[in-house]
Amino acid sequence: MRADALLSRYGYCSRRECAAWLAQGRVLFRGETVRRANAPVEPTEVLVDGEPVPFVNGLYVAFNKPLGCTCSHREAGKLVYDYLPPQWLARKPGVNTVGRLDKETSGLLLLTDDGAFEHAMCSPRRHVPKEYAFRTAAPVPPAAAELFAAGTLLLEGERTPCLPAELRLTGDCEGVLTLHEGRYHQVRRMLAAVGAPVVALERCAIGPLRLESLGLAPGEWCAVDPALLIASKV
Ligand code: URA
Repeated sequence: MRADALLSRYGYCSRRECAAWLAQGRVLFRGETVRRANAPVEPTEVLVDGEPVPFVNGLYVAFNKPLGCTCSHREAGKLVYDYLPPQWLARKPGVNTVGRLDKETSGLLLLTDDGAFEHAMCSPRRHVPKEYAFRTAAPVPPAAAELFAAGTLLLEGERTPCLPAELRLTGDCEGVLTLHEGRYHQVRRMLAAVGAPVVALERCAIGPLRLESLGLAPGEWCAVDPALLIASKV
């Protein structure tokens, strides 16, 4: 890869700004300062401002989404991307959330620049389980567990019923729902369908990845191994 392509690909600067970065001696390859924009470099052996290039082989990150921000690049108000290093957002390909959480849902969210990974994690065919802890404004009828497990619940406006989902109640108005797909506002709509509107919702796990074991405060992120998640197919 050329030095200017590397700086642009990993979000440091535009190709036009590259000459200035190189002239300032900010880029080293195998210990030597890179001066020419077209110099061939190996990304894993480059230092920019003394630091290795982050996520050379793809960016895979777990993020603890705070309440009140949206999974969008464009909407007004606080965005998930406001919590991330600006350099990530200038990478090409760009960094996106893997699926979405509502503005008023907190918890585990994955981010990646790998479109194939994003697709694999969201595909209902892969059945990657996603676990949500909820509180509701009214008691959840115990019969809801059987209804959700049967895979027969047809939500308003949908043509196919929800895939079987596991409901575990931990109180009259709280519990954990595990889904194997990701439809719009699915947890809220499923619980509303049984007369128990959601008042608080947090995603606590995606496949084998559990928010509590990652030790992330809201707004914090950490790198994850994509192989762990892709291998989690059930
Ligand atoms: N289900 C919802 O209702 N909201 C989310 O953010 C995720 C799943």
